[in-house]
Amino acid sequence: MERYDVTSPAGRAAGLAAAVAALDAGRLVAMPTETVYGLAADATSGAAVAGIYAAKGRPRFNPLIAHVADLDAAMREGVFDAVALKLAEAFWPGPLTLVVPRAPTATVADLVTAGLDTVALRMPANAVARDLIAAFGRPVAAPSANRSGRVSPTAADHVAGDLGDRLAVLLDDGAAPVGVESTILAVADGKVTQLRPGGIPRAAIAQRIGMPVGRATAPTDPKRPLAPGMLASHYAPSAPVRLAATTVASDEAVLDFAGQLATHAGAAPGYFDLSPAGDLAEAAARLFGALRDLDRPGVAAIAVAPIPVDGLGEAIMDRLGRAAAPRG
Ligand code: TXA
Ligand code: MG
Repeated sequence: MERYDVTSPAGRAAGLAAAVAALDAGRLVAMPTETVYGLAADATSGAAVAGIYAAKGRPRFNPLIAHVADLDAAMREGVFDAVALKLAEAFWPGPLTLVVPRAPTATVADLVTAGLDTVALRMPANAVARDLIAAFGRPVAAPSANRSGRVSPTAADHVAGDLGDRLAVLLDDGAAPVGVESTILAVADGKVTQLRPGGIPRAAIAQRIGMPVGRATAPTDPKRPLAPGMLASHYAPSAPVRLAATTVASDEAVLDFAGQLATHAGAAPGYFDLSPAGDLAEAAARLFGALRDLDRPGVAAIAVAPIPVDGLGEAIMDRLGRAAAPRG
């Protein structure tokens, strides 16, 4: 694996060139995005996309997001009605994924959509990601760059530890600023449904487009999840996770919020406050790193303080709920 520090101009130029060459050769690239690091491959190549599923150990019925550099590319892949267009114009580039009908002109491989007649599209805000996709000239399929079911990567070291042996190129752009994955919305029949809470709060979306944003109900077929989130156990550290903790056992690590469990900081085998000031954006940005940090040998469980579910709290509690779900 070649690793580049893309925060310097020289590293960025060399890293982008190497990454484009790797994508062209059908190989895997770890790409920074504002949400989490992505495991990128040429979305138009079934063989390249198969490499993503193999590296992650990901079930093939779970489709991937195609990342694009501009709206023209998005509209080649998907059919945008007036509502979808409004959402794209309001929130792209940014942590929003739109699930729309697949266009007749679509170039993404069937493996990206897992055979569905819809496609998930996102234009990331991270400048390195946008430059990479634009230079490559084709859509890039990219799930989070972690092994399937594990905690998502918000730093290049997380990626190197999980998937280093599978990558051609790793682009290190520092910590991912949003820290939770994109909000996924399905747009159909003029209605908007949130399939996964994420980096843009549902209320902010509804307000911006002047329309209600519904929430998806549980899928009827467990092999066809509406979105990732529908897989019950996900984002899981090795240690069990216990939510809404107001007491802490002596062998439990503590994931705190706004200092609620601060009296346990000294005695616990691990302690991390997601945001001492009670700021949900800061908490989201630090969530996955904290789960990795607290997942230490000898920790019997991770006790998580109560976290409000408004704003970005919906995405935070969604991820923690899955981290706490019974393991399959
Ligand atoms: O922030 C993000 O979205 C990150 C970065 C790398 O862009 N990506 C990400 O990808 O979280 P992933 O694969 O971990 O989650 C994307 C989810 C899939 O698990 C899938 O369930 C859902 O998007 N999805 C993809 N295509 C879909 C479709 N046609 N219909 C419904 N859901 C779909
Ligand atoms: Mg993921």
